Amino acid sequence: MTPAGAVGQPYSRLEGRAKVTGTARYAVEYPVDGVAYAQAVPATAVRGTITGLDTDAALAVDGVLAVLHHGNAPRLTPGVDPELFRLQEPTVHFRGQFVAVVVAETIEAAREAARLVRVDYAPQPHHTVLSAQDPALYRPDHVNPSYPTDVVAGDFDAGFAAAEVRLDLTYRTPSYHNSPMEPHAATAQWRDGRLLVHDSIQGSSPAREILARLFGLPIEAVRVVNTHVGGGFGGKLYCKVQTVLAALAARHVDRPVRLPLTRQQTFGPVGYRTPTIQRVRLGAGPDGRIDAVAHDAISQTSMVTEFAEQTAVYTRNMYAAPNRRTTHRLLRLDVPTPFWMRAPGHTPGSFALESALDELAAACQVDPVELRLRNDTTVDPESGSPFTSRNLAACLTDGVRRFGWDGRDPTPRARRDGRWLLGTGMAGSSYPARVRPATASAAASADGTFEVRINAADIGTGARTALWQVAADALGTPPERVRIRVGDTALPPADVAGGSTGLASWSWAVVRACERLCDRLAELRGRLPAEGLTVEVSIDDEVAAQRTLPRYGYGAQFAEVRVDSDTGEVRVRRLLGVFAVGRVVNPTTLRSQLIGGMTMGLSMALHEAGLFDTRYGTWANHDLASYHVSSNADVPAVEAYWVDDADDQLNPLGVKGAGEIGIVGAAAAIANAVHHATGVRVRDLPVTLDKLLAA
Ligand code: MOS
Repeated sequence: MTPAGAVGQPYSRLEGRAKVTGTARYAVEYPVDGVAYAQAVPATAVRGTITGLDTDAALAVDGVLAVLHHGNAPRLTPGVDPELFRLQEPTVHFRGQFVAVVVAETIEAAREAARLVRVDYAPQPHHTVLSAQDPALYRPDHVNPSYPTDVVAGDFDAGFAAAEVRLDLTYRTPSYHNSPMEPHAATAQWRDGRLLVHDSIQGSSPAREILARLFGLPIEAVRVVNTHVGGGFGGKLYCKVQTVLAALAARHVDRPVRLPLTRQQTFGPVGYRTPTIQRVRLGAGPDGRIDAVAHDAISQTSMVTEFAEQTAVYTRNMYAAPNRRTTHRLLRLDVPTPFWMRAPGHTPGSFALESALDELAAACQVDPVELRLRNDTTVDPESGSPFTSRNLAACLTDGVRRFGWDGRDPTPRARRDGRWLLGTGMAGSSYPARVRPATASAAASADGTFEVRINAADIGTGARTALWQVAADALGTPPERVRIRVGDTALPPADVAGGSTGLASWSWAVVRACERLCDRLAELRGRLPAEGLTVEVSIDDEVAAQRTLPRYGYGAQFAEVRVDSDTGEVRVRRLLGVFAVGRVVNPTTLRSQLIGGMTMGLSMALHEAGLFDTRYGTWANHDLASYHVSSNADVPAVEAYWVDDADDQLNPLGVKGAGEIGIVGAAAAIANAVHHATGVRVRDLPVTLDKLLAA
């Protein structure tokens, strides 16, 4: 690494100019000769069987080429992924499931005709209500991605019974919708039995495999391109239905097909964050030291596949306590399958635990920051292994200083500014630091420039730019001499932009490829062949050989709110977070991830809620007019800082990943601040004025 390297410098995104000038291409924006447009038709039944389809009116619309459905669509391989097995059978598993696709010369014709497709159903009774009393609640074999369902250490019941201070609290979170700027969208083209897809997806390497299996193709016959992706937040982690429908349609009409989902169609059929019901029990001494903690989480899944949100996993490793129990129960409902959404599990789980800690702080009359410091631990409370680096305390103390927490009067309703009640609150935050296999190549050209290739996905995070900086330093060359290519399965394979593993994994492969290239160049003593030199390196063995240790990023979230004492309106005045996320590759893109996560937490605290109509089996608010996402005017000063943090064993750069941690704890910090302002504890999100006025 050169002393004044590129790593650590606040470079702007390499593709920033292309994006702001509108020349960056997204999934359905590539110029394609002879392209047709497709519109998906959602089921209006919640559960049942299609008994008849009338496509005459749709086919009569000028420009309509075809209507695909289970009776005429090309066949897919069964057993690959039931979520993607669409237009193959007449069964309807949830309202909104796509049961037909209209293909037309224009998007307008496709949309018009889609309204005219008539589908008759034999409906069956449906059940869509998540309840803690449902006898059908069951214990899944594991929770996402592969955590044990229940974990017990010590004796919770005995510890809780013996504790001087006992809290038994239930928190609820509604369903949330990922709502990235670019909806799920794909362009599919078949040529000589080969499938080319431009997709809006967080990782094209796994999607390529799934598509090959679904369509019965050798993997070499499939190419997936995702050069630019307009956000995902987990909702585009893996191959989704729009891609399959586009490929089916393109094969059926023998033309390239673009299929963008409408905004409304992204509310459910491609996933959402499950609603949760969470019981948290804390038994503590009068000094706030926790003796016993139990976190029992309930969430929902569908009849199609099991998706088991890891809601209580946050509680397993965050704070010390000798007696602990975490459990997960699931309910299968006639609903779309939940899916990944930013800091899955940890987001709803931290709302419950970090709210409960605030309630414990009040019960013990201990400052909420001090309470967390008293329950800090250097070893993983579950395994007993030391954390590789745990800088929670550093985040808390730095946050106290920057936010001006000292001297806070803990009394609720103690501060006023005219009609406004003022309050401050805080929460802890953490997210696992993990790596996944990846391969990268590095090439030297005779003109002294380099090209580094890896099928990473840049979903707007700045990953492309960060990898370019990493490559420049690893090559010991100015970044201007380096080109970076990501987002195409024609590049060396890598895993998804997900679970905050992206930069940690991809940077490792990039470093190894660049090191190998430098070694080869050194052997050649500068005598580079005219055609240049390319090396490719996989880190799969290194990753597999890595010891499993408790590794996490940490954070401390602080919020100040004001609440109108007459109307109950809540406004956030400021959010401040301090994080420990390993080596900082690019402060500009890191800050953007952190404040983005915090803003999403604000949105969760005050605004977002999927309102499920259990009679009709769908969300009443399934667009951005009625599903309220915080707008600019709702978001005040959001400040993100970081402390020194190093885990030299995690990956060559010591990167922990920062895509998720910004949202973890943010909603709790705001709800805790609302309690401080008003004396009202809201345990079911969002914190809306009706709940404050009712109290
Ligand atoms: Mo993140 S929910 O793994 O994209």
